[in-house]
Amino acid sequence: MGILKDCIKNKEIKGTPIWFMRQAGRYLPEFRKIRSNNSNFINLCLNPDLSKEITIQPLKRFNLDAAIVFSDILFIPYGLGQNVEFEKNFGPRLGELDIKSILEITEKDILNKLNPIYKLISMTSKEKILKDKDLIGFVGATWTIFLYMFNKKSPRKTLNEDIYNYPNTDELINKIIDVQKLHIKKQVESGATIIQIFDSWAGLLDEKKKDKYIYEPTKKIVEFTRKLGAEVICFPRCIKYYKEYCDIVGPSAINIDYEVDPIKIAENINIPIQGGMNPNCLLLEKNDMLKNAKKYLTIFKNRKYIFNLGHGVMPETNPENVKILVDFVKDF
Ligand code: CP3
Repeated sequence: MGILKDCIKNKEIKGTPIWFMRQAGRYLPEFRKIRSNNSNFINLCLNPDLSKEITIQPLKRFNLDAAIVFSDILFIPYGLGQNVEFEKNFGPRLGELDIKSILEITEKDILNKLNPIYKLISMTSKEKILKDKDLIGFVGATWTIFLYMFNKKSPRKTLNEDIYNYPNTDELINKIIDVQKLHIKKQVESGATIIQIFDSWAGLLDEKKKDKYIYEPTKKIVEFTRKLGAEVICFPRCIKYYKEYCDIVGPSAINIDYEVDPIKIAENINIPIQGGMNPNCLLLEKNDMLKNAKKYLTIFKNRKYIFNLGHGVMPETNPENVKILVDFVKDF
């Protein structure tokens, strides 16, 4: 456990904790090297030796305060028996949504599929490089997982509204919640100290439906995780109601996207804040990048703030810029 968890728990800390979403990934040549020999992304994630190595790769280069488990939110549909593949230049492609077999699948079947992830976490948490640092486990939020299972691919910019008429919505949502809880519990038992909940498509939901699809399920997951003794960071991407979300869902910390005005967030939200800066800033010339970083650090200087981005690191990012940014935040 490290300064990231201390910051979330409102303890006194020195400096600003920092980590990045997608800090392990294609912008790192050492990741691309492993990836080029492992064309099946699912199998790569389920290989604990390789996924452990990938998880710690960014910590070998940069002075980060946490590692995030190298895995994917789509292991929940995968664990439920829906086929999941990752296609080059397309992204995820999911198979038929066979509701009958999904509702029948047992915990034992699910764990049989997901056990390599817990082995990866347990092995990674014992690495020396993580001493005094946090290991972040994660799940996709119920709405985002439901959306992928229904839509079978990323929705891009618009939502297929048929999703609201899916006949087995309540049963499927409850089943997803069961697996989310199981997956979180196993991650925490294996050594994850913090759980992040990614609601990447929260912004696509018709706001009038947020109680059913976002608040009710996410509140359950957050309460469950906090009872386990882990802290929970929520990232409901591109919503316009962050304050109400925090009040109702009750996460330990909130990650903000890059569309929302950080000044308004600082004024209205009292819990620790994470992220915000546009990942494109890492593609800018050094001084412009740092000017943007300084903006976030200044706005949140009297607050518990975890430096991160408003979405994941872009594949085009130069690792040298990541190093400059991390050192700048650490010296600020
Ligand atoms: O470093 C980390 O952040 C840890 C690993 C991680 C991955 N995916 C690895 C990954 C995490 C936390 C995720 C979460 C995830 N996965 C989200 C939520 C965050 C977000 O981006 O909004 C979502 C929506 C997914 C689903 C997903 N996985 C998509 C849409 C894609 C394809 C697009 C892309 O970015 O490549 C993936 C594949 C994926 N997941 C890759 C990685 C490193 C790329 C795999 C490759 O090498 O081709």
